[in-house]
Amino acid sequence: MRQKIVAGNWKMNKTLEEANILASEVSGMVADEVRGNAKVIFCVPFPYLTAIKGVLGNNSRIALGAQNCSEHEWGAYTGEVSAPMLKSLGIPYVILGHSERRQFFGEDAKLLAKKTDVALKHGLTPIFCCGEPLEVREANQHEALVTKQVEEALFHLDAASLEKVVIAYEPVWAIGTGKTASAQQAQDMHAVIRKHLASKYGQAVADKIIILYGGSVNAANAKELFACPDVDGGLVGGASLKSRDFTEVIKGAN
Ligand code: G3P
Repeated sequence: MRQKIVAGNWKMNKTLEEANILASEVSGMVADEVRGNAKVIFCVPFPYLTAIKGVLGNNSRIALGAQNCSEHEWGAYTGEVSAPMLKSLGIPYVILGHSERRQFFGEDAKLLAKKTDVALKHGLTPIFCCGEPLEVREANQHEALVTKQVEEALFHLDAASLEKVVIAYEPVWAIGTGKTASAQQAQDMHAVIRKHLASKYGQAVADKIIILYGGSVNAANAKELFACPDVDGGLVGGASLKSRDFTEVIKGAN
């Protein structure tokens, strides 16, 4: 049985004060209202990681993640943050290859393979994002694109390393649009990804890989999405910025 995960991707939002309030509210609501063992992750902006770590205290139900890391470990890369830095902060998760980083910062499979390697080398858990834009789905090429994204960035890994990676399928046309993929669409693509993993690593390894869905997850659709056999939770944007909404999404995974 795979661990259910609900990760909130705060993106570039909130002042420090607002971030502290959100983390404190969700932490309290989860403690008071949520039964079950789904793991919750806050993926917060770099500057807030230490402060939010302090707000959460020893709350084992909620872990912290970053939204990116450099492919370099150290050096003259002004403005960058590296995997060993995140490790030294005690941050266990890192989102890699989000569609917004592919779109606005030109991240490609070659770079993401390097980022995945350096994150794994320093003991972080990558949350590797994949997903197709609308025009690719409308051309019925979404399975080919997503399996290519996964293969080009992850298939150099051995099985033991791959098992440490969380994958997030985020159809670009569903991100921030309110046009959530249907539960069937999500399940179909997660099954395609898992089948592609099995084609390289075998079914036993593929069955261990946690695959999250992202793209307009909200309190109303979370339960149905997370009930799908190959959907192991969600990577949540907008709904994670509102404490009540995110708590209801978390309940959907428990
Ligand atoms: O990484 C999760 C994010 O891309 C999804 O955003 O606002 O559609 O939940 P949203």
